[in-house]
Amino acid sequence: MSFITCNNLCYQYSGSNRTVINEINLQIEQGEFIAVIGHNGSGKSTLAKLFNGLFVPTAGSVEVGGISTADEENRIELLQQVGMVFQNPDNQIVASIVEEDVAFGPENLGVEPAEIRKRVDEALKTVGMYDYRLKAPHNLSGGQKQRVAIAGIIAMQPKCIILDEATAMLDPIGRKEVMDAVKTLNRDFGITIIYITHFMNEAVEADRVILLDQGVIAKDGTPKEVFADYDQLIAYGLDVPQSYQLMKELGINDCVLTEQECVEKLQELLGENGKTRD
Ligand SMILES: Nc1ncnc2c1ncn2[C@@H]1O[C@H](COP(=O)(O)OP(=O)(O)O)[C@@H](O)[C@H]1O
Ligand SMILES: [Mg+2]
Repeated sequence: MSFITCNNLCYQYSGSNRTVINEINLQIEQGEFIAVIGHNGSGKSTLAKLFNGLFVPTAGSVEVGGISTADEENRIELLQQVGMVFQNPDNQIVASIVEEDVAFGPENLGVEPAEIRKRVDEALKTVGMYDYRLKAPHNLSGGQKQRVAIAGIIAMQPKCIILDEATAMLDPIGRKEVMDAVKTLNRDFGITIIYITHFMNEAVEADRVILLDQGVIAKDGTPKEVFADYDQLIAYGLDVPQSYQLMKELGINDCVLTEQECVEKLQELLGENGKTRD
C-alpha cells in the first residue's frame, strides 16, 4: 500500500469557482525523496496542504497511511505524521530558546518529559544544531533557523516531511545546510521527503520529480525523465539547471543535470587535454 494516495483529487478555494487542483491521481511510497516543481500558481502549496490534511479535498480523496484526510478525527494524527516546513524561517519560531522551540511539538502531543528531552537532543544532533540548543533562535542564520524548524518536526517522529520552498529565503550556504539535513533524514531514517522548490539544482537531487502545471501533473519521473526536453521546461516557465544550460549553449543536447556530470562531459569532450594535471 502506498503511503500517500490521491484519487481524482480536486480542490477549489471557497468563494472561488476555479479548480486549482484538477483530478490528480498520485501515489507516493514511504521513503521516497520527491521534488515538486512548477511555476508560481501551479498549485504546489495547495497540494502540500492537501497532503497533511490542512485542506480537505473538494472532490476526490487523499489517503495517508491508509486513512482519509477528510475524517476530522484523524487530523491530529495526520499533522504528527506529515510535518511541514514553510518558506519564512521567522514565522516558524515559537519559543525564545532553541531547545524549547524544538520541544513545542512533542509537548503538544502529550509526550512524557523524559522522552521529550531525548527526542529534542536527538533531533538537534540530526540537523547539526545541538551546540546551539541554549541559544536564542532569532540570532541564528536563515539556514540554522530552518534546521531548528526541521528538528521541531523530527521530534514529533513523522513519517513524512514536506518542505514548501523552505530554502527560498536562504543564501546558498543555508540552502545546502537544509538540503544536507533533509538527505540525512531520508537516507538514514527513511522519512519520506516532499521537497517543493523553484531551484532546479535542488530538484535534480531528488529521486523523483513531479512537475505541476495549472493544477495537473504535467510530468512525473526521474530527474532525467522530467528534465529531458529542454524547450518544454522553458515553456512551463521553469528555470533550467545551470549545467544543462551551459551544455545547451555549447551546442550539446545531452541532458546534463549536475555539476559532476557537467565536469565529466566536458572532460570527455576535451579528451586528453581535459585531464587535470596532478
Ligand atoms: N487563499 C486563496 N484563495 C483563492 N485562490 C487561491 C488562494 N491561495 C492560492 N490560490 C490560487 O490557487 C492557485 C494555486 O496556488 P498555489 O497552490 O499557492 O501555487 P504555487 O504554490 O504553485 O505557487 C493559484 O492560482 C492561486 O492564485
Ligand atoms: Mg507556493
